[in-house]
Amino acid sequence: MQETILKPQSAIGSGRVRRFDAPEKNLRVTQITTFCPDVIGPGPTHLYLIEGSAIVLLDAGIPTHLAQAFFYQWRNQPMPAEVQALLPDHTLQEFFQGLELAGRSVSDIDLVVISHGHPDHFLMLQSILNGAKPAIAAHILDTPEICNPWGLLSMWLSRTEQLQATGMPSAWSPRPAVRDELFRNLNLESMGVAVRVDTPIFDNGPVRLRGATLSEVEAIHLPGHTPGSIGLILGQGDDRILLCGDVLLNPITPHPDNLLVYLRTLRVLGQLDRIGLVLPAHGEEIRDLKARVQFLQEHHRQRLNLTYEACGSPCSVWEIASRDGYFDTYVNPAKFNPLAALEALVHMELLNMVDGLRRCDIRNDVHYFKNSGEPFDRVYERIVDLVEGRNSGAMMRY
Ligand SMILES: [Fe+2]
Ligand SMILES: [Fe+2]
Repeated sequence: MQETILKPQSAIGSGRVRRFDAPEKNLRVTQITTFCPDVIGPGPTHLYLIEGSAIVLLDAGIPTHLAQAFFYQWRNQPMPAEVQALLPDHTLQEFFQGLELAGRSVSDIDLVVISHGHPDHFLMLQSILNGAKPAIAAHILDTPEICNPWGLLSMWLSRTEQLQATGMPSAWSPRPAVRDELFRNLNLESMGVAVRVDTPIFDNGPVRLRGATLSEVEAIHLPGHTPGSIGLILGQGDDRILLCGDVLLNPITPHPDNLLVYLRTLRVLGQLDRIGLVLPAHGEEIRDLKARVQFLQEHHRQRLNLTYEACGSPCSVWEIASRDGYFDTYVNPAKFNPLAALEALVHMELLNMVDGLRRCDIRNDVHYFKNSGEPFDRVYERIVDLVEGRNSGAMMRY
């Protein structure tokens, strides 16, 4: 696969533009890397311009001012000087420069596909389009977040009670007046970020565009990071390209919103063949799909093991998440950190599903769990059974 760097990255780690020429004639992909915070966030978001029988844009990134708000201001985290110094349209300009280097303009885009309903993947779409009207596709299971201007708030609110039960310090003030003021500041409707998905994806197979199908762009449902996460498989030969959104990342590991569903998706990915290159939405490309899948499976086995052993005495989710060594980076037990809490939570949830962990206490609305006392390997066998579907029952939601 021929790779050409059209523009190197800037000091902030984004702005790089790379072109990949697929072995098939008339199929090329340009990766445009746009600003999104590192360390506190997943790192710069890669947008992909796919040029085949139609022009398709995968993902739209997050505007600079909203990335600053989400990752630093609303989470009350110190903002580095170089991030503070970015112009409000920094990310938008990175995208336009990439588009220009690909020899295209916004009016050339026939279809925008949104890989999933997280804010770093679609909030900049309205600014990019600025009145242009390509078709917009996303999996229907993530359209509540993408299409509803209040979708992001509803995602937060639906988790509030659960996050409190983890024992993590709250980011929300319990006083209604303070909360009301915060919600006024979070007026996403006035920010113009909601997107109208008019080409829903609900099945695997070639992507549809206004009644036609694009044979060289195939959608594959890969749930577990979000319910409606999708990947795109490009080409039809032995060296296909998988654009996988946040489902596989390198070197960081994606956070599942449902570990059972995510492990099932990993199993599907491990059985995919004829993939020569995997291009994720953050970080580095993946040259060996099966090796990356095995690494992630082993990573979650080890984290399940760590979680299980830690619950030899009663533990809350937050006590697990903020333990030394649970994450590579330090998690301050006194600070609101929903990604850390949710990561521990999904591992505890899966252990609980197979009776490896049981809730033993609720104190001050915080839930505590204790392990079953069996050897971990026996518990893990039941998890593997569940992942492989041998114990699965659709009626019971798992
Ligand atoms: Fe994501
Ligand atoms: Fe992301």
